[in-house]
Amino acid sequence: MASPDNSLPLVELRDVSKRYGEGAERVDALVNVTMSVFPGEVVGMLGPSGSGKSTLLNLVGCVTEPTSGWLQLDGEVVYDQRWLRRDLRRLRLEKIGFIFQTHNLLPFLNSIENVAEVMELRGVKPRGARTEAEALLNYLDVGNRKLAMPAQLSGGEAQRVAIARALANRPRIILADEPTAALDSQRAGVVMDLLRRVATDRGGAILVVTHDEKIFNRFDRIFHLRDGRLEGIEQTKASEPRSVVVPEPT
Ligand SMILES: Nc1ncnc2c1ncn2[C@@H]1O[C@H](COP(=O)(O)OP(=O)(O)O)[C@@H](O)[C@H]1O
Ligand SMILES: [Mg+2]
Repeated sequence: MASPDNSLPLVELRDVSKRYGEGAERVDALVNVTMSVFPGEVVGMLGPSGSGKSTLLNLVGCVTEPTSGWLQLDGEVVYDQRWLRRDLRRLRLEKIGFIFQTHNLLPFLNSIENVAEVMELRGVKPRGARTEAEALLNYLDVGNRKLAMPAQLSGGEAQRVAIARALANRPRIILADEPTAALDSQRAGVVMDLLRRVATDRGGAILVVTHDEKIFNRFDRIFHLRDGRLEGIEQTKASEPRSVVVPEPT
């Protein structure tokens, strides 16, 4: 039975627009985008280069400020014609996990330390953070590389450690910009399986920008963007009934 929570979107945008520059330089990167993403969903964002995909992701991640509109994340209105919180860094730490095309691991820290660092920012004591980081690496099937430095990891391993880092602050909203572009199809499949697991186990909402045809069949819904407009929403075959929100193991 679905939890009542599942009917409330984790990410909701209403009439969000983003304009860069003025006059002849003006670019309407996003125009009146209205969309919602629900707990347990893995959604794709597709569109030609320059269609506004990264802008949309960065705006949901509170990295880029909209020009106008309304944005609610995990039950909190965070933007209503202006940011409603002064400390956006803290807002991101509470709500958002980012995954990039190539991992953003700190080169001088090993896998455990890379993950534990984010947990300590959240206020977890170092020893507890280490234990929790190790559990998370195990959960993502990369526990055997816990003491390796980033340079010693393969592309697929590094991406899994980077996912662990993105999950370390226990966000329910995961934003990924081309997370599989640098991986072969088997590794890309593993990454998508892990993101699906996070959506199911944690009731997370996973938003993935991609060009990667290998993973088009992995989404519940696909948002198609063109010239900054949401052109259509495709319900895909991968979609299943929405999962029940299960509290994560601690
Ligand atoms: N910082 C910026 N300054 C000016 N224009 C930008 C900036 N970032 C993106 N744009 C423009 O906004 C449009 C959308 O870009 P982007 O969101 O990066 O598209 P996509 O990720 O789909 O390739 C493009 O025309 C791009 O040139
Ligand atoms: Mg982009």
